[in-house]
Amino acid sequence: MTTIKIALLGFGTVAQGTFNLLQDNAELIRNRTGVNVEISKIFVRNPDKYSHITLPETAQYVTDIDEGLKDDSIQMVVELMGGTNFAKDCVEGALKAKKNVVTANKDLLAEAGPYLLDLASKNGVDLRFEASVLGGIPIIRTLYESLAGNRITEIIGIMNGTTNFILTKMSEEGLEYNDVLSDAQAKGYAERNPDADVEGYDACRKIAILASLATEKTVSYDDIYTEGITKITDIDFKYAEKMGTSIKLFGTSRIKDGKVSAYVAPVMISKNNPLYSVNDVFNGIVVKGNMLGTSMFYGSGAGKLPTASAVVADIIEAVQNIDKNVPLGWTDEKQEILPMDQTKFRYFIRVAGSYRNKEQELNEYFGKAEVVELYGMDEFAILTKEMTEGELKAAASAFDTKAQSRSEYGIKQMIRAAL
Ligand code: NDP
Ligand code: HSE
Repeated sequence: MTTIKIALLGFGTVAQGTFNLLQDNAELIRNRTGVNVEISKIFVRNPDKYSHITLPETAQYVTDIDEGLKDDSIQMVVELMGGTNFAKDCVEGALKAKKNVVTANKDLLAEAGPYLLDLASKNGVDLRFEASVLGGIPIIRTLYESLAGNRITEIIGIMNGTTNFILTKMSEEGLEYNDVLSDAQAKGYAERNPDADVEGYDACRKIAILASLATEKTVSYDDIYTEGITKITDIDFKYAEKMGTSIKLFGTSRIKDGKVSAYVAPVMISKNNPLYSVNDVFNGIVVKGNMLGTSMFYGSGAGKLPTASAVVADIIEAVQNIDKNVPLGWTDEKQEILPMDQTKFRYFIRVAGSYRNKEQELNEYFGKAEVVELYGMDEFAILTKEMTEGELKAAASAFDTKAQSRSEYGIKQMIRAAL
């Protein structure tokens, strides 16, 4: 039986999961592929850190990257270090050496996806990155393979496990986000830099990759409006509970009349929304295709083994196409994104202070809005009608100016709502 040798770059959470999975399911993978997939070299900075892990005789730690990239017996490189500088050099080097590459690195794909895919194509090998978006949910393969006959019109998802875990705990246990973050980090879900999760950057990279695959162009993450969960408080969840709603961090991309909108932001949703029940570290994504209609995918979006499961699926696909490049249709043509000011939402707005005739005063600025009150609070909330973000900003600014001129407090919070 042929053996395909792999160099694993990095040996953290996902890499160790991949190592375990390839060992535990070795026979199954041999039967499915007809080849023996073998981790031959593991590139690490400090092998002592991993001395507690017993390697098979066929595998060894190396501290010189060239031992992985320049070894002709290695046909595949699996990059699981993260980051965009050194990881990019390694992926470039591997592709130029005509080695297939599998990675879980969304930052790298969002930054250099089309360039690296083109490099893979020129060298007759594949670059696969299923684990980079939604961990264990096979959404990337779904877009380029299962839904290849569709024009994708909408992608809405809970794409970050860490923030969904935090928001779920805040909602169910009334905790603040800082109290829950360390728990997510200990469980191996969180990125090295926690800002990547809580400020929405991770979800932004993921929706940039999905929107690029959907449009077959390049959606730059810099063009995607991104707001994380750091301003969401326990009080917001108290209103949400009263209203029978929840607050989730959404990554969204919509394609309408040839125009593409994309954003990452917390959104208030009702119980009827299919993503309402996606809780804890789970991810969920709703995809609309012009022929498909609507489909929803749900599962583990982060963590050692779910992510390793996606990495190994890519390894298997690359093994099956070891001598050829299979294009994914993601090109480097820039996809313009509609300014956020033109995107429409309803808005949940909390207003500090007491007003004599709340509805009437607020209607003047926001049009007809529903008022929501919590017992014993020196504030109230409104739910506006649908309007563009530009209209909302203008109304909010005028309202705040008036409130301040009367020594009232004005707007405390604004959360977009899909109700
Ligand atoms: P970890 O921090 O657990 O592991 C990273 C590994 O890479 C460590 O072994 C680290 O070594 C090594 N490494 C980092 N930088 C370098 C470098 N410059 N040179 C050599 N080795 C380096 O990360 P994860 O396993 O969680 O994540 C890996 C990738 O997978 C990231 O791109 C992440 O975004 C992605 N991902 C992670 C998911 C998860 O649930 N954890 C889910 C989906 C994707 P050292 O210990 O020496 O620092
Ligand atoms: N930090 C990421 C998350 C890992 O929490 O979803 C998966 O990409």
